[in-house]
Amino acid sequence: MSSHLSAWNSDYCSRGRLWAGRVHGLPDLPAPSAVLELGCGNGKTLGCMPAGWQVTALDMSLEALHLCRRSVPKAELILADARALPFQDESFDAVFAFHVTGHLPGPGRRALAREAARVLASGGRLFFREFGLEDMRAGQGEEVEPGTFRRGSGIITHYFAKAEVEELFLGMKPLFVGTQRWKLRIKGDDLVRCEVDAVFLKI
Ligand SMILES: C[S@@+](CC[C@H](N)C(=O)[O-])C[C@H]1O[C@@H](n2cnc3c(N)ncnc32)[C@H](O)[C@@H]1O
Repeated sequence: MSSHLSAWNSDYCSRGRLWAGRVHGLPDLPAPSAVLELGCGNGKTLGCMPAGWQVTALDMSLEALHLCRRSVPKAELILADARALPFQDESFDAVFAFHVTGHLPGPGRRALAREAARVLASGGRLFFREFGLEDMRAGQGEEVEPGTFRRGSGIITHYFAKAEVEELFLGMKPLFVGTQRWKLRIKGDDLVRCEVDAVFLKI
């Protein structure tokens, strides 16, 4: 785990704000919903959340939280591990896990899923987003586990199939699991970005 953490910290230290742009597809939640974001990074998703939500965001990288604090000054930020959440059961109406689950090895992904379900109130929803198997980067780097690749920075990324996402959150009811694909033109080549989006209901 320490190499995982140091890979993230050194990436933030050397490259600064890693994630920018608008985040699409945030749901309509009633204000004031209690919302938790896992692995908030430098605040790309957090910065797009409506002011009426009561958001707590966490990351295990202190460097990420420093950057996040600059871009989202009023957010409640916590240094914590998404695999062992420092919250009581049923504390939140919604949990967001956007591009964090896939940066953990299999046991970590399952621990995150269990913890997300635990801290959600009954009737609460989990919003999930990760790269899918057809993504342009899938297969690049060293395969450290099936479907999980480590690239030059030391950061690992797992690329998901839809069925695997349903299986990961088996204790919750899937409301939506879908794959989005779009083209990116990079240096004259048409490449495909592919994400799996899902919403699960805690019953
Ligand atoms: C791709 S960035 C996420 C960005 C953010 N969710 C967004 O949508 O812009 C992934 C983040 O997950 C964090 N992370 C990785 N493993 C984690 C863990 N076990 N607990 C908490 N944060 C973690 C990393 O430090 C990094 O900041």
